[in-house]
Amino acid sequence: MIKKLMLVMFLLISTSIGPACFEIFGAVTPSALKCEYFVDPKGIDSLAPRLSWILISGERGQKQTAYQILVASSKKKLVAGIADLWDSKKVNSDQSIHIVYQGRPLKSRMTCFWKVRIWDKDVVPSDWSQDADWSMGLLKQSDWKARWICYDTRPWVKKRGLQLPPCPYFRKTFTVYEKLRKATLYVSALGLFETSINGKRVGRDHFMPGWTNYSKRVYYKAYPVTDLVRKGENVIGAVLSNGWYAGYVGFAPRHTANPRRRAFYGEIPAFIAQLDLEYADGKRVTILTDRSWKASTGPIREADIQMGETYDARLEIPGWDRPFFDDRTWVSAKFHDAIVPRLESYPADPVQRIQTIQPVNITQPQPGVYVFNMGQNFAGYAKIKIKGNRGARIVLRYAEMLHKDGSVMTENLRDARATDTYYLKGDDSSETWQPRFTYHGFQYVEVLGLTRKPDLDTVTGIVLHSSLAKTGSFECSSDLVNNLYRNIVWTQRSNFFDIPTDCPQRDERLGWSGDAQIYARSAAYNTEIAAFMSKWLVALEDDQRPSGAFPDFAPMPFLQFEPSPGWMDAGVICTYILYKVYGDTRIIKKHYRAMKRFMDYLERTSTNYLRFPKENCWGDWQALGAQTPQDLIATAYYAYDAKLMAEMASVIGNSRDSRQYSILADNIKNAFSQAYVTSQDRLKGDTQTAYALAIYMKLLPDKMIGVAGERLVELIKNRNWHISTGFLGIKHILPALSETGHSAVACRLLENRTYPSWGYSIANGATTVWERWDSYTKNKGFQNPEMNSFSHYAFGSVCEWMFSSMAGIDTDGAGFKRIIIRPRIQGCEITSTKATYNSIHGLISSEWQIKNGKFILDTTIPPNTTATVYLPAEDLGRITEGGQPVGSTDSVKLLSFDGHDAVFSIDSGNYQFESKIPQEIPFG
Ligand code: BGC
Repeated sequence: MIKKLMLVMFLLISTSIGPACFEIFGAVTPSALKCEYFVDPKGIDSLAPRLSWILISGERGQKQTAYQILVASSKKKLVAGIADLWDSKKVNSDQSIHIVYQGRPLKSRMTCFWKVRIWDKDVVPSDWSQDADWSMGLLKQSDWKARWICYDTRPWVKKRGLQLPPCPYFRKTFTVYEKLRKATLYVSALGLFETSINGKRVGRDHFMPGWTNYSKRVYYKAYPVTDLVRKGENVIGAVLSNGWYAGYVGFAPRHTANPRRRAFYGEIPAFIAQLDLEYADGKRVTILTDRSWKASTGPIREADIQMGETYDARLEIPGWDRPFFDDRTWVSAKFHDAIVPRLESYPADPVQRIQTIQPVNITQPQPGVYVFNMGQNFAGYAKIKIKGNRGARIVLRYAEMLHKDGSVMTENLRDARATDTYYLKGDDSSETWQPRFTYHGFQYVEVLGLTRKPDLDTVTGIVLHSSLAKTGSFECSSDLVNNLYRNIVWTQRSNFFDIPTDCPQRDERLGWSGDAQIYARSAAYNTEIAAFMSKWLVALEDDQRPSGAFPDFAPMPFLQFEPSPGWMDAGVICTYILYKVYGDTRIIKKHYRAMKRFMDYLERTSTNYLRFPKENCWGDWQALGAQTPQDLIATAYYAYDAKLMAEMASVIGNSRDSRQYSILADNIKNAFSQAYVTSQDRLKGDTQTAYALAIYMKLLPDKMIGVAGERLVELIKNRNWHISTGFLGIKHILPALSETGHSAVACRLLENRTYPSWGYSIANGATTVWERWDSYTKNKGFQNPEMNSFSHYAFGSVCEWMFSSMAGIDTDGAGFKRIIIRPRIQGCEITSTKATYNSIHGLISSEWQIKNGKFILDTTIPPNTTATVYLPAEDLGRITEGGQPVGSTDSVKLLSFDGHDAVFSIDSGNYQFESKIPQEIPFG
């Protein structure tokens, strides 16, 4: 009877509040279905896409024992359970990520509908998941029938200033005769594009198709546009700009050694599009770019990523992108002579307009000069809402900081003009405008040309960046640290812009590989970086040097320097991070040959397992005081690469390579000790970074680890408890301290407010992470503007430690299938931390607090995973879980207890542990 009652209740609840009911009754559901890291992606290029899902259940120990996937060629078939493409049948496996599609061969343009069910721990089948889908892109280059078209607007260039050409506009009229079943637009550009159908913008993406080595590949996007196309006459419109292809990139403008100032890939942007129209009767018609497209210039007179945009609203062409427009003054588009070897589907999260920000105040440092303070440093641009006379000119200049007199500081932008200009059309009502093909890194907008006093609505900040899914949250008892976390996240947002850039403001914005490898693990806690970083790794491999070294930055339109240790290693380290965080082995296979070439290069250029950089070495970039020896850095990275390669080779089943790389790693480690450990048990150079690298990368003999930790603390103490590392040391120093039992020192560094520290920047108003410890100091003011960004994520790589050691969330092995919950905060003044991380296996949380001598930990482990929990505890007998003495439930098993740390293994579910904190805080 009770069971029946419960069933009725279950049904009632399930119809009214959905998934919450599962928590009550412990049923398990597969959800968040993804194909190649995306929900319902369009334009999949892989013939064997990988499928993943997570399980939702409130029940402890819940897991998957088997799964079944159905894939159908139509939604109708899937609903009817007809898996005409693939029925995996019941597969006994706990694997819920990266299941490789093994059904009927996939073809261009197909949409595949799929669902999954699983069998739980008691081998009870779940319901089918909700339906999901993915669409295939254009798989063969021969699927592209369209030609690249262009319109050379250089004759309109004003022979002064930067001499930027106006943007070309294209239009194509086509007729739809009958009802359509489906319309898909495949589109790409050399440069940047924006397309519309009948005046409506296609998609939400910006800065498409991203930045690649255009001589190797160009990405395209597939957009479902069925809703935009109508019966009768239709128009596709497109606007192009130079973008990374033909515009200013990197620091090229300032390098006299480099005769080219822009247009590294080509002079004239090009456009390609195919609109596939599928009629209800199955007939297919494709509209292609060719010479029948019409072209013109329009109101965008200049557009450059670094330099800014100029828009003359008087030159707007009403109706140009709609049907029944008289385009007789437009000319025929020309074919572009581009040789594009490969068009591939854009494989990552596109840049989008993510958020708007209102200014917090307006100042007027000089009459007629208005400065809007956005209250936050970010990447994007300003939208303006103004009223004025026809032809009046409004100029927007962007800056991260203000001078003492309140004027904008633009010197640190170097040659990036970062200026947008708008000429009013003189509407009676107000005019609203925002640029499209440029972006700036800024907190302040200076507006010139306003004839009346503005208000806070005159300017709106538009935040743009790659649209990565948020995966992490973090807060703790220290406001300063919370502030730092916020600054880190904002800095990541500003610099995850199609590629991982060093900075968003000056004439640089390059995918510097050193910065990326240092920060990638931190980034992965904050957002899902799998697709974004995988895309960048392609760029890194595309520009691998002939020597085998990975480049200093990628894409690499011009070669300025030979790659440096700590930078070139990104090819191995970032691949490894993606494997580790997402359990992705395909990424290893994809780059394995390139990584081996790199290892061969390292071997070739080493001497008795030591590496002495000859060509270029950035060292521990931005370190203060004593510099870490370059050969020590180079050798440390060599050893680390070998170690990671040994692991990755083994994961993909190459045991011979794995053995060889293990032996190599051991040999380098020995050589490292012999060369760099002095007779006084010191490391050559004796810098914080030397010890941090050696401890983190496990390069020291066991007996030396503790001593190295002590020396590291001493060096910090010698600087009055301050940090002095540069980019290469910063990721490693706090983990190295925790590893050697000095978490209290790590916390002290984190909570410093005096120079040099993260806190010092915050005390001075930072809303993002600065490039240098001394970007601004009270004594000296701003650093040399030549190299002074206020939005550089490298020093934000402390975020990795905040999640892995403060909150204590880490992966044990790859992909968070086994999880570690290990807050390492012995001796810290921080009394609570709360973090969540949405892993590829589901949501993990760790929330702890110290109260009345007790350590209280609340943690959630997703279904189908297990965890090892480390608990500081004085007395095993006084540990409770869920209010009961620990050990009284099956799902918590004691693994070890050494008098100060109790280690348990737990199944999935939610747990509340309480222990008495040891009085004596032991190191280790
Ligand atoms: C960048 C850095 C980069 C470095 C190489 C700088 O200009 O901004 O972040 O890693 O060059 O040393």
